[in-house]
Amino acid sequence: MNRNGTLISLKDITKVYSSGKVHVTALAGVSLDIKRGELVAVIGPSGSGKSTLMNIMGCLDMPTAGSYHLDSESVAEFGIHQLASVRNQKIGFIFQNFNLLNYATAYENVEMPLIFAGKPASYRKEKIMDCLSKVGLADRADHKPTELSGGEMQRVAIARSLANDPDIVLADEPTGNLDSKSGGEIISLFEQLNSEGRSVVTITHDMSIARRWNRIVKIKDGLIESDMVLGG
Ligand SMILES: Nc1ncnc2c1ncn2[C@@H]1O[C@H](COP(=O)(O)OP(=O)(O)OP(=O)(O)O)[C@@H](O)[C@H]1O
Ligand SMILES: [Mg+2]
Repeated sequence: MNRNGTLISLKDITKVYSSGKVHVTALAGVSLDIKRGELVAVIGPSGSGKSTLMNIMGCLDMPTAGSYHLDSESVAEFGIHQLASVRNQKIGFIFQNFNLLNYATAYENVEMPLIFAGKPASYRKEKIMDCLSKVGLADRADHKPTELSGGEMQRVAIARSLANDPDIVLADEPTGNLDSKSGGEIISLFEQLNSEGRSVVTITHDMSIARRWNRIVKIKDGLIESDMVLGG
């Protein structure tokens, strides 16, 4: 971490999707710093570039131009193995559609990133149950996603994202497929993760969530329209 606690530093990020003669500018020059321990809501209209930005921050996609420093390291310099390792170790990513393995149990889903990280079986077992307990699902370890509610599936995805103790949790409309009660539980979980010192950045369409958090970044037409840090 650099001295002022900046975890994510984006400078003049652009992203142009090209297919044939069609070029779509999804991000038109975004500069954004996220500090350790921040709780950030990203809002903006459909098609404004929110997911594109989140995918770049999560190292799931690369910008067309601009620089991205994660924990003071230039992501552009990372090779494929280092990228995979960063995604595994530093970043927890939560998707709207959960992205769980449907043939695997909750336990096995949370185990995946631990296996990838080379953790031994005894460590994995304890860590998996820790993470499932944290999201209130220790008693569902043997359930497959089809045997869980949407809110429970998302909680398994959160448990999975926490397996390797990431510094930052990124979420792309994590409550988009959930009813308001399950969605509220997910948001409370994020607030808890944040209170433990993690940075949490989530895209949301729900202004009631955004207003509860201490920073709201508004994206419009591939640019940051406003970046408000609220009190509290
Ligand atoms: N893989 C892609 N190829 C081409 N164009 C894309 C691709 N992904 C996104 N786009 C375009 O880039 C722009 C930004 O898309 P993005 O998914 O980042 O928007 P968003 O803000 O997340 O929208 P939503 O709220 O609907 O999820 C849109 O115009 C979209 O059509
Ligand atoms: Mg999106």
